[in-house]
Amino acid sequence: MRCRPAPANKLQALPRGPEVLTKPEHSLQLELQQPLQALLPKPRNRKAKVQFPGRGLGGRPEAPIWFSRSSTIKDMNYMRFINARSASRKHSAIRLMAELLLKAPKSAISLVIGAPNPNTFPFKSAVITIENGETIQFNEDLMKKALQYSQSAGLPELLIWLKQLQIKLHDPPTLHYPPSQGQMDICVTCGSQDGLCKVFEMIVNPGDNILVNEPVYPGMIHALRPLGCNILTVASDEHGIIPDSLKEILAKWKPEDAKNPEKNTPKFLYTIPNGNNPAGTSLTTDRKKEIYELARKYDFLIIEDDPYYFLQFNKISPTLTLVAGSLLCTWRNTGAKPWAPTFLSMDIDGRVIRADSFSKVLSPGLRIGFLTGPKPLIERIVLHTEISTMHPSTFSQLLVSQLLHQWGEDGFRAQMERVTKVYRKQMDALLAAADKWLSGLAEWHVPTAGMFLWVKIKGMNDVRKLIEEKAMKKEIFMLPGYHFYFDSSAPCPYFRASFSLASPEQMDMGFQRLAQLIRESL
Ligand SMILES: Cc1ncc(COP(=O)(O)O)c(C=O)c1O
Repeated sequence: MRCRPAPANKLQALPRGPEVLTKPEHSLQLELQQPLQALLPKPRNRKAKVQFPGRGLGGRPEAPIWFSRSSTIKDMNYMRFINARSASRKHSAIRLMAELLLKAPKSAISLVIGAPNPNTFPFKSAVITIENGETIQFNEDLMKKALQYSQSAGLPELLIWLKQLQIKLHDPPTLHYPPSQGQMDICVTCGSQDGLCKVFEMIVNPGDNILVNEPVYPGMIHALRPLGCNILTVASDEHGIIPDSLKEILAKWKPEDAKNPEKNTPKFLYTIPNGNNPAGTSLTTDRKKEIYELARKYDFLIIEDDPYYFLQFNKISPTLTLVAGSLLCTWRNTGAKPWAPTFLSMDIDGRVIRADSFSKVLSPGLRIGFLTGPKPLIERIVLHTEISTMHPSTFSQLLVSQLLHQWGEDGFRAQMERVTKVYRKQMDALLAAADKWLSGLAEWHVPTAGMFLWVKIKGMNDVRKLIEEKAMKKEIFMLPGYHFYFDSSAPCPYFRASFSLASPEQMDMGFQRLAQLIRESL
């Protein structure tokens, strides 16, 4: 039985201040890799019930329904989700030695690593000005560190901050599980795309069944297709995945089939729960719960790709926030979060891999994202990183880490609010242009998060020619919907308009021209 001890550090403040950077014990270092046999499920009292505590101050109003009930934790056989290629990955002795050295006292003599001598680096120091006018200083020592190789899982000081963030935001049930049984672990990735590609490469064998809800971000289509898996597409509407569609697909199996590899039950569901790219929709909490239960029943993983998590426009309502105590400082003072509950927050079995990204809220060029999930799987990703990217840019990680420590929780929250406000305004401008020019010609749902408006042109079976040829000739660039489907040859009446960059005037002019083209084409 897995017991979940009371999370003592749940409300601990996010680390702030440069002192955190210097403490050697702040390390989420990889422990030595466990033998893969340890990942096989251990016989346990399967009838054991675990009572999950309510979320107290950290809960959203709808959280108690889920968290106050008894749930039996399922035994996870992680070997089912690690293919032969991934299972054969081993730590390189040199990387292990390098990581040991990073923890060694200053007096240690190292003749072991072939890392370049930082005295030869041409960059000596840097001062970076941030939004509020404050600066981040890279003195000579920090610059040497920023330009050197670093840990494959990510810089310890950044990992510590991210771990506290995940605890605050999602309070994953797996936080205190034993490592082999899915304890929450984190690794930094070169953006979430890198992390997700590595996740797919870890799990997928040619011919495997996997579940994806369409329309879907093309980056994932192009990552999955070469792996030769069989994509089972799940239908969605304005509230995200339709659970009945998922149930219908799964009905061809029995729950116990997951134990028999020959039955080829789906290994995972990939989904973008907030501000879906391209549909702009978000999964409701009730649907998430239903989907999580299906994942438990049929034993598949949920890959929660959530780069637009912080860009939620329909946050907790002011009335509910007021009930929680304070309008402005809710998260800080009460722990109540303005963002929707995530799959990670519901993950009592250790079957969710969550991909976060700083691309949309700090900047994409830094290439910093992070994966949170069960340790036996995150370890495999780190091993992949050791031999591919080796680690995300040390400079980028240090810059982000310095920024986050300098900002603390308040600064981070303020940035999330600032960015959301910008995109909300942008969205309102695009919606105004759509209302003005496309009413009667097209239909759309108001996006709940993210950067995209997904528009269906009425009376047109396929908009490929209209968007790709006619609109481009008139200098309006948008993406026709077929890009977001695995079968790109099927006719599609949708297009995606991004509201991240264009000015309100450009949006207005763009949709005016488009309206004219639609009328001419009908
Ligand atoms: C749904 C989704 N996932 C992943 C990514 C990749 O993001 P990152 O820059 O973190 O790699 C994007 C980028 O647009 C996206 O829309």
